[in-house]
Amino acid sequence: MITAVTTAAVASWRRKTVGKVVFVPTMGALHSGHAALIQRARRLAGKDGGVAVSIFVNPTQFGPSEDLSRYPRPIRADAALCRSEGVDLLFRPDVREMYASDVSVAVSEKSLSLRFEGAERPGHFDGVCTVVALLFQMIRPEIAVFGEKDWQQLAVIRRMVRDLKFPIRIAGHPIVREEDGLALSSRNRFLPAGARAMAPRIFQALTAAAMEAEAGTKHASLERQLRRDLGRIPGATLNYASIVEETTLEPLGRITSQTKARALVAVKLGGVRLLDNLAIPLGNSLAP
Ligand code: PAJ
Repeated sequence: MITAVTTAAVASWRRKTVGKVVFVPTMGALHSGHAALIQRARRLAGKDGGVAVSIFVNPTQFGPSEDLSRYPRPIRADAALCRSEGVDLLFRPDVREMYASDVSVAVSEKSLSLRFEGAERPGHFDGVCTVVALLFQMIRPEIAVFGEKDWQQLAVIRRMVRDLKFPIRIAGHPIVREEDGLALSSRNRFLPAGARAMAPRIFQALTAAAMEAEAGTKHASLERQLRRDLGRIPGATLNYASIVEETTLEPLGRITSQTKARALVAVKLGGVRLLDNLAIPLGNSLAP
């Protein structure tokens, strides 16, 4: 594995790689969720291809009230994980490598970004789109792997790639969970014990909604039930819970057998914002 900190070192690695380059962007503090994305990248790249991982805690996607300095940076453990997963290039730029001091150009997605995380965290997706576009330019991957954990982020990146015509295929990877259902996240380490014990109820509420959908319940009442279940978690504040069309993130119109729906939720528990989402099979609600 090569560790690069400069654009020039990345370019040199890129020129030497003959097969497909598959890229996994991260902010580090790597866990089994990231590892699953890297393993997927390794399979997609094959033995001739190259797997590139970036670790960059991107300041432009953090709001002024969000503690950028608190974001964990266990770099030795992260490098060890990358090495053991067969990563070829670990790119760890510092802020000056990514942004000129007078940077004045950014990428802004203006539709999907406005709701949910974008409404809670204004400017967040501009930061994400800009840094991902920069990393795509530097690494020039054939494929990039993103987790479904951040469903809205995945949808926004797909839209950016479509609209800016990046010649890159985006592969979405399913959410990796703890045994009790809690979606893995670098922020879970900040959960106090009591909140940690309550956290699996988020996935339980999502699963209950998916099962009710299977049984034919209509989506408006599924959404009400989901909000009620999440609101009943002791100590939890519900940020949002909606069932939306999975690619446009728009409210559901007329349900057809083609409708693909996703429940997106964010809950604040023990001072930590927890995101989760699940596919909601609404086809059965068509039955009379
Ligand atoms: P980060 O939060 O480090 O996540 C990196 C990637 O790992 C994202 O695609 C995220 O969806 C995925 N991921 C995190 N937890 C996961 C889990 N439990 N299961 C599956 N995938 C999971 O997302 C970012 O960084 C940044 O916004 C970034 C895209 C790197 C831009 O700065």
